[in-house]
Amino acid sequence: SHSWLIVPAAGQGRRMGADKPKQYLTLADGQPVLAHTLARLHGAFPSARLVLCLDADDRWFSPQWVPFTNWQRVAGGSERMDSVLNALHAMTATDDDVVMVHDVARPCITQGDLLALYQAATTNPAGALLAMPVADTMKRADDQGLSTRTEPREHLWHALTPQGFRYALLRRALETARQRQTVVTDEASAVEALGESPLLVSGRRDNLKITHPDDLALAAAILAAQAVHPSA
Ligand code: CTP
Ligand code: MG
Repeated sequence: SHSWLIVPAAGQGRRMGADKPKQYLTLADGQPVLAHTLARLHGAFPSARLVLCLDADDRWFSPQWVPFTNWQRVAGGSERMDSVLNALHAMTATDDDVVMVHDVARPCITQGDLLALYQAATTNPAGALLAMPVADTMKRADDQGLSTRTEPREHLWHALTPQGFRYALLRRALETARQRQTVVTDEASAVEALGESPLLVSGRRDNLKITHPDDLALAAAILAAQAVHPSA
């Protein structure tokens, strides 16, 4: 069996508001976000097969940023889940292969978290996702922006990536979501909708998803701090 990585990188980065998609902005060492993310993934899984989802009109991608020997590109879709489905349909996986999906916009992912997630995804039949317990007090707002109640946070987690599942389960989950015309923002929600419960793997709090303009400098600072304190 093989291990697979799907990296959705077909987004436009609208919230970033830059002159190109955020995955092509320089993060550190003169390298774009995409190169950093792929280097981290390759460090943990050097022999995995990579499927990279890129917009059909992408003008910025260069294969020099791909350290994997075994990789393919597929066209992105209109939503993230469509990009991931395109990857699942293009790859030649067998049902039991483990497939990990990781946002290109999360370059601060560490080797420790990657290996922990892979282990959990391999062990749990319903797969696993990196996640972070909610730390702040959670408020329920009404339509006027008034706080109407406080939600208990003991059972609330932030969903991160990577998320890993057996190929057959992930494909069935996302195809079902598409048939039902629901848009899911992560793979775990599609699996949950089948009545399956992926394992929440407590991940590092510095697994930032670059989303807004400030996040680029924050991610660069996180990479610098990780270089000084590798296991902090
Ligand atoms: N993505 C994708 N295909 C899409 C939309 C998103 O492959 N149709 C990818 C993005 O490239 C990113 C990940 O999914 O790696 C998470 O999406 P997000 O953080 O929302 O990135 P963007 O969609 O690019 O940003 P925005 O929503 O601000 O436009
Ligand atoms: Mg988006």
